[in-house]
Amino acid sequence: MRPDRAPISFIVNGAPASVSVAPMRRLSSVLRDELGLTGTKVGCDAGDCGACTVLLGGEPVCACLTPAASVEGADIRTVEGLGDGQLSALQASFLAHGAAQCGICTPGMLVAATALIERTPRPGEQEVQDALGGVLCRCTGYRKIIDAVVAAHRFSQSLTGLPTIPPEGKGSTRQDFSLPPVGQAVGASPVRLDGVPKVTGTEMFGGDAFPADALSVLVVRSPHHRAAFSFGDLGAYVVDNAGVVAVFTAADVPGINRFGVIPPFADQPALAEGEVRFRGEAVALVACEGWAARELDLADFPVRWTELPAALGARQAQAEGAALVHAGRPGNLLVRGFVERGDPDAAMREASVVASGRLETSYVEHAYIEPEAGHAFVDVDTLTIVACTQAPHMDRDDTAAILGLAPEKVRIVPTATGGGFGSKIDISLQPLIGLVALKTGRPAALAYTRSESMSSTTKRHPASMQAIIAADTDGKVLGMVFDGEFNTGAYASFGPTVANRVPVHASGPYVTPNYRATSRAIHTNGPVSGAFRGFGVPQATLMQETLYDELADRLGIDRLRFRRQNMLRNGSETVTGQHLAEGVGIGECLARLEPRWTRALADADAFNAANADKKRGVGIASCWYGCGNTSLPNPSTIKLGLSPAGKVVLHQGAVDIGQGSNTVIAQIAADALGLPLSDFVLRSADTSITPDAGKTSASRQTFVSGNAAQKAACALRGKILRFANVSTEARLRLEGGVLAVWEGDIRRHIDLAKLEADGDGLVFTAEESYDPPTSPLDAKGQGKPYAVYGYGAQIAELEVDLGLGTVQLIKITAAHDVGKAINPLLAEGQIEGGIAQGIGMALMEEYIPGRTENLHDYLIPTIGDVPPIETILVEVPDPEGPFGAKGLGEHVLIPTAPAILNAIRHATGITVRKVPATPTRILAAIREGRDR
Ligand code: FES
Repeated sequence: MRPDRAPISFIVNGAPASVSVAPMRRLSSVLRDELGLTGTKVGCDAGDCGACTVLLGGEPVCACLTPAASVEGADIRTVEGLGDGQLSALQASFLAHGAAQCGICTPGMLVAATALIERTPRPGEQEVQDALGGVLCRCTGYRKIIDAVVAAHRFSQSLTGLPTIPPEGKGSTRQDFSLPPVGQAVGASPVRLDGVPKVTGTEMFGGDAFPADALSVLVVRSPHHRAAFSFGDLGAYVVDNAGVVAVFTAADVPGINRFGVIPPFADQPALAEGEVRFRGEAVALVACEGWAARELDLADFPVRWTELPAALGARQAQAEGAALVHAGRPGNLLVRGFVERGDPDAAMREASVVASGRLETSYVEHAYIEPEAGHAFVDVDTLTIVACTQAPHMDRDDTAAILGLAPEKVRIVPTATGGGFGSKIDISLQPLIGLVALKTGRPAALAYTRSESMSSTTKRHPASMQAIIAADTDGKVLGMVFDGEFNTGAYASFGPTVANRVPVHASGPYVTPNYRATSRAIHTNGPVSGAFRGFGVPQATLMQETLYDELADRLGIDRLRFRRQNMLRNGSETVTGQHLAEGVGIGECLARLEPRWTRALADADAFNAANADKKRGVGIASCWYGCGNTSLPNPSTIKLGLSPAGKVVLHQGAVDIGQGSNTVIAQIAADALGLPLSDFVLRSADTSITPDAGKTSASRQTFVSGNAAQKAACALRGKILRFANVSTEARLRLEGGVLAVWEGDIRRHIDLAKLEADGDGLVFTAEESYDPPTSPLDAKGQGKPYAVYGYGAQIAELEVDLGLGTVQLIKITAAHDVGKAINPLLAEGQIEGGIAQGIGMALMEEYIPGRTENLHDYLIPTIGDVPPIETILVEVPDPEGPFGAKGLGEHVLIPTAPAILNAIRHATGITVRKVPATPTRILAAIREGRDR
């Protein structure tokens, strides 16, 4: 029975609207599903994230909490109504400041900020924080959003001169913001090429373009950490529930019901078979009409559960042995990692000073604001899946294998991705909606709820680590021994990657001649741990950097100076024996921080001399990070060519999840080709159109895909120059459909329309690949795991309330060596966003299955939690990088949490041994310290 409906009329964006809907229907659903205003985003349906913020009578409200009946006669404004055909001053300011990364929070931010500046045209930072406090952003670190709102008034005078919203929508490069001239794209900060749709609400994310006739897919999930299950009468369930079309289980999966990121470890079923291994695991799909999906209660689904004993922690899993999961493997061990160099045991014996300790970290949720969403349909003989993702070609191959199709019979069309940070590398809903579309012949659509996104997708590995570091009396590090256990949860996912990457990085960017690092990925019945910005390195760096502080203090050496004494330099060898000939930038990072360090320490001393209840602390930590896969093939391929109409068409398959690859890779290609960025048109990722540019992960796109783009652009330029019979000194210019080539007195004009076009409609094309030169690690972990490393260091300044255990951050100063800042504004945005996630890891984020499956119990930093950030971009070029560039995206999170822990120690004298360092844990550590 379809639910009761009522006619409701209101004004939206200045125009009358009437709908007939259930009175209690969410306004967000009415706007999106009935009126097509998908600029209003849905992130939680609980009023926690603010992505659905609209103006109701001029006041910001969460549309997800607003019943349709309550807006009868009301005046509503959404993001689509902010610009009146042009960008508003605020939207322009967001673009100019790089305040939109993935863009999923941007409509809510813009709407809330519009209410503020209509009241207070020139707000200060505190007013912005107050007004935007209810809207969460997981990408930007908020600082550029604050800057954009504070500065919006400067754009108001030029409102009439601002660009008309381009009709092409997504991917358009038509903007009136000036783009850099020929040869000057690299190093400039043009507004991101995909920016306009993000600030106008026209960007299409995974849940924004569901076909009207699509079946809704609901997923039946395990409420238990471990259980056996069986189904009742599924046929009767379909018959008894109006609107339900079909039910599917693992028995309906036509292919190999397993997926995984590394073939030997592909172990996770798309739909569980008889036993579930974690809370939230999928067991069945209900395909139903859209109206029925809003009413159906999956508690009535005929499934019987028999709970089984579960191990939720790695230590418990080890203690209880093999019986819990993966009975076929010895114990619950997934995989080990190992690196050894020199004689660490002798170094410990001979050292003058050692520091040792243990440290634990928690499950951390990715908490992107866009829950997974997408739809699937069969296009002639090809299953087409339109969904948010970080890894389209991997999605295609996994989905094809699960559904028993040839890879070329599956097409993945990524939508805009509203944050990923590693979790949207693993497939999740792709095979589920694909299965329904294949079996029913109808389009199938699915948008995860917030709670199923949090309960079913991957997390950062909780780690339990111990280490000892030894030095001589001069403060020279002699050796280090590290051991870490990483809770990889119920299935493998990126557990092997974490176990391999951690021992390579656990030394930090320091010369460590004698070294042994062991790691283990342990299965439990907790959530699956996977890729998350840093692959275990942020956890290991917490261990190493906190011990570096203890060691420096014992030696009586300034903590920054101690790091400079031991840092890697050009010519150093790493713990894997890799000779670093050039491009080592940690020294420059620490040098640039030194004056800020001295000032911060003096400020803290002055504050502490005058205050007894609160103490100020200053902490420092460094990072290094290998860009790309660890000793594995890691190629990217980029194609570009000229269209007969005179555009450079860039087939750019590196998915831009907000970090800016659409813009950065175009900037690299523009300068390598010798044509301006304004001539470029993007053809973004689509497995049937763009070559495979690999996963957006491991900080590889600027470095790896950027190199492929540079090679392809150089190859294209070479073809053109040979065609025109001119030297490499010749210059190019596109004049409509004519390519002008000139060199001295030579002038050639090539009518592009007269040339034969390829299957993509392009003339003069080039396609090139790049695979970083690495080598396998031997039995002792010796070799060349990465071709390029990035470096960085951060200072955290904070105050600790000794009575409450609370921490107030005062400032973060970050110096990061990016080799070459292809786009400094985007690089800063990455740094600020990574720092915000590091703050969350250090101080508040702890995912507990069954207890924090929403964004009010699981806390991520809000706009008020991120202090001012000073960014210092260091450019020590690496000859292997495009224009010298290194990766950046993951490095930037790594030093934040250890710098904060070290600052807490500086303020209080205690080291917190488990993160997040919540007030309770800080107080307990202070009391324990006093008792000692
Ligand atoms: Fe704010 Fe991505 S830009 S969540």
